[in-house]
Amino acid sequence: MIVLGIETSCDETAAAVVADDRRILADLVLSQLDQHRAFGGVVPEIAARGHLDHLDGLIARALAEAGTGFGDLDGVAATGGPGLIGGVIVGVTMAKAIAAVHGLPFLAVNHLEGHALAVRLIEAVEFPYLLLLVSGGHCQLLVVEGVGRYRRLGGTVDDAAGEAFDKAARLFGLDYPGGPAIERAAAAGNPRRFDLPRPMLGRPRPDFSFSGLKTAVRHRVASLGIIDEQTRADLAASFQRAVADVLADRSACAVSLCREEGVPLTALVAAGGVAANATIRAALARVAETAGFDLVVPPPRLCTDNAAMIAWAGIERLRLGLSDRLDFAPRPRWPLDERAAATGGSA
Ligand code: KG4
Ligand code: ZN
Repeated sequence: MIVLGIETSCDETAAAVVADDRRILADLVLSQLDQHRAFGGVVPEIAARGHLDHLDGLIARALAEAGTGFGDLDGVAATGGPGLIGGVIVGVTMAKAIAAVHGLPFLAVNHLEGHALAVRLIEAVEFPYLLLLVSGGHCQLLVVEGVGRYRRLGGTVDDAAGEAFDKAARLFGLDYPGGPAIERAAAAGNPRRFDLPRPMLGRPRPDFSFSGLKTAVRHRVASLGIIDEQTRADLAASFQRAVADVLADRSACAVSLCREEGVPLTALVAAGGVAANATIRAALARVAETAGFDLVVPPPRLCTDNAAMIAWAGIERLRLGLSDRLDFAPRPRWPLDERAAATGGSA
């Protein structure tokens, strides 16, 4: 089974061709970072136009690289949400058109489901596993019970972890995106120099909050005045340490909760751009080790936004006989666990 995947929900235009035996035949990501950098964040209108300009050429390149034509495909999967709606519409419309012309099944994939299942493209992690999804827009803990079966244990009440990295980086005078910039700066820093708060630590529910940490960082930076190179490194290291401590503590809390409920977790899986951070991975590995299972993190290329994970989620759904109708409406908001959302859960 071979599926074409399309991802256009944020600032990456991506196309990939993936086979159901875990071969990634092509995996292309076109970043629009340079167009958005000057604004310190993603500008939705610029992003949508960028996807429109580049998507068809990128798909043609992906198919050529994979050595496949439209006729060799078994399905077309596109991110159907959540995300910046202009971009999602571009990807979904393209996928529907290809599906209609070539008589292929169309799959509207939840972007978060793409992140949640990406790990299974690398190795056969069995259900149920605990997923820490940490990206620029999301910060939540979920039990992945099966394809299409996700139970949200907790999430952030304010900022996502990646957002916190991006905002802190700005305060430190570092480039966007903030996560990689902070990680680089932190390498030469002392994580104990600044005593920053760890919001929600020890709370009984596995929720997150980062606004208090951000405010503390802002005050600290303001009181320091001019920041030299070493101070910036120490700030970055102290901030990164605080986030790692919070993510590890909240994940440990979720593991305990699963234990109490008798959920037979097979692994702790971390996904999303923030999972690329080595300090955070090390902290999570200790949590998993204590719990008696492994931490599994997809390689960085599959952690950040890509289309291979969308194609793979499409394959997982096709295998179960699932596909979507061509009148699927793109969804700017689309919680993985609709029940939790209905009862007032947050991102
Ligand atoms: O998953 P992703 O590529 O896009 C979505 O938000 O869906 O995640 C991007 C986020 C950004 O906020 C970025 O600062 C953060 O992930 N990030 C990192 C690192 N690399 C990317 N945060 C911490 N350390 C990193 N090495
Ligand atoms: Zn993402």
